Amino acid sequence: MNDKSIVVNDKRFKLFMTEAEILHEVQRVADEISRDLKGENPIFCPTLTGAFMFMSDLAKALDFDAMVQFVKFASYSGMASTGKVRNDLIFSEKCRGRHVVIVEDIVDTGITMDYMLQEIAKLEPASVRIASFLFKPDSFRKNFKIDYIGRTIPNHFIVGYGLDYDDYGRFYRDLYISEQ
Ligand code: IMP
Ligand code: MG
Repeated sequence: MNDKSIVVNDKRFKLFMTEAEILHEVQRVADEISRDLKGENPIFCPTLTGAFMFMSDLAKALDFDAMVQFVKFASYSGMASTGKVRNDLIFSEKCRGRHVVIVEDIVDTGITMDYMLQEIAKLEPASVRIASFLFKPDSFRKNFKIDYIGRTIPNHFIVGYGLDYDDYGRFYRDLYISEQ
């Protein structure tokens, strides 16, 4: 699965970022996290489903072992944000008092992450950091800081590398951008 252009459901997407470029940015992010948190026994909380590939590559690129606990908070259906967040799999009690790194595939409006930040705060963690592989500053509506960013991107719909368009497109190892 390495074509220059792909079709997911009813839409065509073109190549945006290759696997090699992705892994280069993942390694840089992993180095930043290792520098900040090695020896601090952080807990990584990646979001299902989109962040599963990023978390997998990040885990392999970090130079220390750590605990990982997936969470699931969903705000999306189709290609537009609904503004509402559903809580399917909450933060583990194990986050209490620990250094937490929330791992996201993408921060778009920021609504989902803002909700997650409120949820994690209830567990009184020692600190909370955010690692998001992609960030769309042009649609961002909140004001939290993203500590680690793989790539800042224009306000277009992206698929591949864990990200979906209506449940499909996640398995591509490269990232693709909507053509219209
Ligand atoms: P936010 O709440 O608007 O920041 O949206 C966050 C969630 O929307 C992400 O975790 C993704 O699941 C989804 N999302 C936002 N933009 C895209 C995109 O371009 N492609 C695929 N999913 C996206
Ligand atoms: Mg997501």
